[in-house]
Amino acid sequence: MTLSTKHLLGIETLSAEEISSILDTAQSMKKEGAPPGKESSPLAGKTIINLFYESSTRTRTSFELAGKRLGADVLNFDFSTSSMSKGETLKDTVINLQAMNPDILVIRHSAPGAAAFVAEAVDASVINAGDGAHEHPTQALLDLLTMRECRGSIQGLLVAILGDIAHSRVARSNIWGLTKLGATVRVAGPPTMIPPYIENMGVEMFYSVEEAIADVDVIMCLRIQRERQQKYLLPSLEEYAKFFGLNHERLAHAKKDVMIMHPGPINRGVEISSAVADGKNSFILEQVTNGVAVRMACFYLLAGGRQGHVAH
Ligand code: CP
Repeated sequence: MTLSTKHLLGIETLSAEEISSILDTAQSMKKEGAPPGKESSPLAGKTIINLFYESSTRTRTSFELAGKRLGADVLNFDFSTSSMSKGETLKDTVINLQAMNPDILVIRHSAPGAAAFVAEAVDASVINAGDGAHEHPTQALLDLLTMRECRGSIQGLLVAILGDIAHSRVARSNIWGLTKLGATVRVAGPPTMIPPYIENMGVEMFYSVEEAIADVDVIMCLRIQRERQQKYLLPSLEEYAKFFGLNHERLAHAKKDVMIMHPGPINRGVEISSAVADGKNSFILEQVTNGVAVRMACFYLLAGGRQGHVAH
């Protein structure tokens, strides 16, 4: 199966079949280091440019590794030393980069819709590496892969997403992906961090973490995104940790084998304690490992590759 779209802008617009196809391709790449039955450098001769207008450790590094592992030329655009400091707009920046004939642009930007805006302006395929509080599709795909690897299937899973739902592109992309693949999603956090429309996305809402995590298969903790908040929505981080942070005491309300996930970066002692982040139920570093395979799969499929037959 190939992707029906030229760009990967969000999970909302993907079908369940397309999501599963990306996960299957990523799984085979993780196992075999390359697409099944294909040459080891399927993107040789292709050019990928990473444009990160917001900071990143995991996403940018794994996109770079993914492109290189498939044989592509990968350039990291450093916006702090670019001509944007001389007043060049995002549109002028990307049409000038397009003039160098890249095949894929990966963009992270603080503005919701920035990736879609760039996709309208260029001929290259565009991958959204996070646009404001809107979507972070490859993060959701790597999260889905991590859950599927551990539990065998997303269908029927009960997942609790905890924390700053209102400002989280990770939450939004995961809600789309999980519900499309048949999971049930709960969200919990302070009332100031739960958007009023969230139930329209088909999730259950809780203000008590203890109630939200009872009986779930997966707990996903989120960082408080102060950089996106117009004003402080909490009295203090200490109070947030006390009432909403995931620590061992609170975790006693969940199943013994619950998966603990976090997209990173983590703020230890705020949304998650060190003991839980580093504990036996944590899959946080497995998520990072799966990020490379998922981004390889996205590059491969957007470049016209087909998902091979992969046994699970
Ligand atoms: N999860 C995530 O997007 O991490 P980075 O901000 O480090 O890329």
